[in-house]
Amino acid sequence: MGRLEGKTIVVTGGGQGLGRAFAEHIAREGARVAIAEIDGAQGEKTAQALRETGAEVYAYQTDISSTSSLENLAAALRERWGGIDGLVNNAAIASGIGGKRFDEIDEATFDRVLKVNIKGTWLAIRALVPLMRERGKGKIVNLASDTALWGAPVLLHYVASKGAIIAMTRSLARELGEYNIAINAIAPGLTLTEATATVAPGRHKLYVEGRAIQRQQLPEDVTGSVVFLLSDDADFITGQLLAVNGGFVFN
Ligand SMILES: NC(=O)c1ccc[n+]([C@@H]2O[C@H](COP(=O)([O-])OP(=O)(O)OC[C@H]3O[C@@H](n4cnc5c(N)ncnc54)[C@H](O)[C@@H]3O)[C@@H](O)[C@H]2O)c1
Repeated sequence: MGRLEGKTIVVTGGGQGLGRAFAEHIAREGARVAIAEIDGAQGEKTAQALRETGAEVYAYQTDISSTSSLENLAAALRERWGGIDGLVNNAAIASGIGGKRFDEIDEATFDRVLKVNIKGTWLAIRALVPLMRERGKGKIVNLASDTALWGAPVLLHYVASKGAIIAMTRSLARELGEYNIAINAIAPGLTLTEATATVAPGRHKLYVEGRAIQRQQLPEDVTGSVVFLLSDDADFITGQLLAVNGGFVFN
């Protein structure tokens, strides 16, 4: 029996990269999965591929920075499954934004990164917590990043957004405890995904050489921790940050 048998889990940004790897592993553990992805075609493609393995996976075209889009998602989930058991806040602007110093980043990009990564995470939680309350229990896993722990340079807007995720996770843990909803964050290190293919080779080298376990980090290095935090084994863990990075930085 899988570790998430009978559960329904939403993965935002699950069309590609880490989100797709989370959706795959979560489905393999027996859960039904909803992929809430802004790129509707990519979300559907991933859902279709997972359905071919026998999993119950549906894609919903969703923009986490839009309240009305999330309201539509919540209504569709309520109609299909009644409630949900977990939410992985994975969607973020994570690619193509690095390499500029603090005084070179333009204001529009800074605002956009914070709007999606911080406000979008809050809006997704606000829209979907009622569906967990119906179940009397729930789990939320937020994607932070170890860039916020070691202070990665030339990525200020992103690093600031991931620091905010850590702080929000702690604050929300105190508000959601009364509903028996646990919320935690994970901080992966630089992981090989579509988004990090454009990261300078020197940065990849810096990460590998700085790790206690000196190799590249793969999506499957991260998925197990998310499955654990969604599972009943983690019922009494909340407000925590788990650094999943091969020992690049210790939390
Ligand atoms: N890959 C890494 O090295 C790494 C390291 C630490 C943390 N993370 C975090 O993990 C998560 C996934 O990273 P990734 O490397 O897979 O990035 P990615 O860019 O490949 O995936 C992000 C996904 O989110 C979707 N998305 C973007 N904006 C959205 C919106 N407004 N609404 C809904 N979906 C939206 C994208 O279409 C994409 O499918 C991000 O939160 C990222 O910050 C990644």
